[in-house]
Amino acid sequence: MGKYKIAVIPGDGIGPEVTNGTRRVLDAVGKRFGHSFVFDEWLAGGIAIDATGEPLPPATVAGCRGSDAVLLGAVGGPQWDTLPGDKRPERALLGLRSALGLYANLRPAILHGPLAAASPLHPAISARGIDLVFVRELTGGIYFGSRGRRQGPHGTEAYDTELYSTMEIERIARTAFDLARQRRRHLTSVDKANVLESSRLWRETVIRVAADYPDVALDHLYVDNASMQLIRRPDAFDVLVASNLFGDILSDEAAMITGSIGMLPSASLGEPGTPGMYEPVHGSAPDIAGQDLANPLATILSGALMLKLSFGLAKEAAAVEKAVQAVLEAGYRTGDIMEQAEHAARQKAVGTQAMSDLVVAALA
Ligand code: IPM
Ligand code: MG
Repeated sequence: MGKYKIAVIPGDGIGPEVTNGTRRVLDAVGKRFGHSFVFDEWLAGGIAIDATGEPLPPATVAGCRGSDAVLLGAVGGPQWDTLPGDKRPERALLGLRSALGLYANLRPAILHGPLAAASPLHPAISARGIDLVFVRELTGGIYFGSRGRRQGPHGTEAYDTELYSTMEIERIARTAFDLARQRRRHLTSVDKANVLESSRLWRETVIRVAADYPDVALDHLYVDNASMQLIRRPDAFDVLVASNLFGDILSDEAAMITGSIGMLPSASLGEPGTPGMYEPVHGSAPDIAGQDLANPLATILSGALMLKLSFGLAKEAAAVEKAVQAVLEAGYRTGDIMEQAEHAARQKAVGTQAMSDLVVAALA
């Protein structure tokens, strides 16, 4: 029996719809297993810009710090796209990651059996399965290095800086090795050590940390090659670790090959004792917002990750994952995971609310 305080940031676009469904799923978990989840809602992103003039109000940061975990929907939308860089909705995400010290971003990419046909990969490749996790460094690198503009001999120049300390590389490497130990004991480190000095320090450091994990097989891939191997032999990967930028790019690729970005959860973690943040990998999808069309499963599965990683409730997390699996096996689909016409007969189209209700019902 536990009582857990969850800061909810619905955000923009489809964010409110998908976080709503997840709250109901967590309530159902509480009911079944005897826990209580208390939710507090906070503003961030475009909605916060409209209400307060800033993407990440200090009250939101304080509210997250005072919670056991954070559930985030999505931020951003076309109406805020013309704002200057430091006033954009995305600043809320970057600001939260940095304020809470969430340096490790876990992005599992799993090809769910019932959705195998949704993968854009050749069936001979997808049939071998996909079950990998990206460990993306989240508070360093080019996202947070110095940047600016200046006048050069040919006019205006702009620059961004990729910068990593040994400490930052070492701690993300340890997160990745620890995770690999709980899985199939294989870690792939992604870098561009043939060109970038920051990548050379990355590789040296990962190799040094590997001495503490003799039971984990380590290999290295250059990022360009990694992008090819992910579609050529995705089943060859277990855990991948990458810098902030490389992890951002490759985790979208990993998401896509599983068929729907609408299915993938993520966890952002800091030092023990600080609240983790859980969010779907997809964005705010403004084109379908408010129409009951969004797939809530990525956020619901993020809730499952929260149960497991922040609250240590592995049994409860497994129950949510099982409920999602059961709903998919029963043929229920939101638009993004509907298959082509020939299979459509076996599938039942549902909206965001109904999909969440089905998961709630499967949990009862
Ligand atoms: C992500 C997103 C963000 C990122 C954007 C919205 C700032 O793409 O979480 O992957 O680049 O980190
Ligand atoms: Mg991204």
